[in-house]
Amino acid sequence: MQNKTALVTGGTGGLGTAICKTLADRGDIVIACHLPEESTEAGVWQAQLKDEGYDIKITAGDVSSFEDTRRMIVEIEKNYGWVDILINCAGITRDATLRKMDENDWDSVVKVNLGSVFNVTRQVIEGMTERGFGRIVNISSVNGQRGQFGQTNYSASKAGMHGFTMALAQEAARKGVTVNSVSPGYIATSMTNAIPEEVRNDIVAGIPVGRMGEPQDIARTIAFLTDEKSDYITGANIPVNGGLFMSF
Ligand code: CAA
Repeated sequence: MQNKTALVTGGTGGLGTAICKTLADRGDIVIACHLPEESTEAGVWQAQLKDEGYDIKITAGDVSSFEDTRRMIVEIEKNYGWVDILINCAGITRDATLRKMDENDWDSVVKVNLGSVFNVTRQVIEGMTERGFGRIVNISSVNGQRGQFGQTNYSASKAGMHGFTMALAQEAARKGVTVNSVSPGYIATSMTNAIPEEVRNDIVAGIPVGRMGEPQDIARTIAFLTDEKSDYITGANIPVNGGLFMSF
């Protein structure tokens, strides 16, 4: 029973849901953050999880906005206490080849995927370092490591997340705060389901394990990295990609 407070941005999404459940299973108090305009859907999500025996808190906040994130964190601290564990999982795709990509496709992906990491982490880092404990995990992507046709915006944002991870890991290392990235490969969620079928089949054919991953594969890795005892792993990137991209 770890009993820490964990905030999961993008918590009601495909990966987020598995992460919330896994952290709750080990006794953490879990708060899932969702977009303000998705409050009704988030309420339904929360009720479904309640039926499954999970008491997950939900909070609305646009993590691509610094101001709204600040407001959200003040509310979370008032309602549930400070955040010990932060999982930056909010992410979107706007896939297009660069010659077809417009400015909004670029800006929105960079603001949500990378900007949110600054916006949320900036609000909680001081408290974590003062208290001498924190676990931060940024959900990056295999496509940040290797690039992907049609994803200049997404690949750049996801590679940027790991640069952030390594820099903050150095700043926080002596304060009991670890900062790591997890880089999922192709995991079965609505995000990968939106890839045209024949393109997806080609991608899956190139995965050494021979299939897509499950959200639980990511959630298990996060549980490991955010364990109280995992205090000597920081600035790392853990690939969970079925062998799609191998590096060391
Ligand atoms: N490599 C090289 N050439 C490719 C290619 C590839 N992987 N894929 C397509 N092409 C070629 C086509 O054969 C075609 O060539 P011709 O013009 O000579 O016929 C050309 O590129 C098509 O280019 P377009 O700009 O017209 O592409 P499009 O508009 O048809 O589609 C796309 C582009 C929307 C990006 C589509 O390829 C696509 O959806 N790709 C999937 C991208 C992807 O993997 N996204 C991951 C989403 S999930 C995620 O991101 C989670 C995670 O972290 C892993």
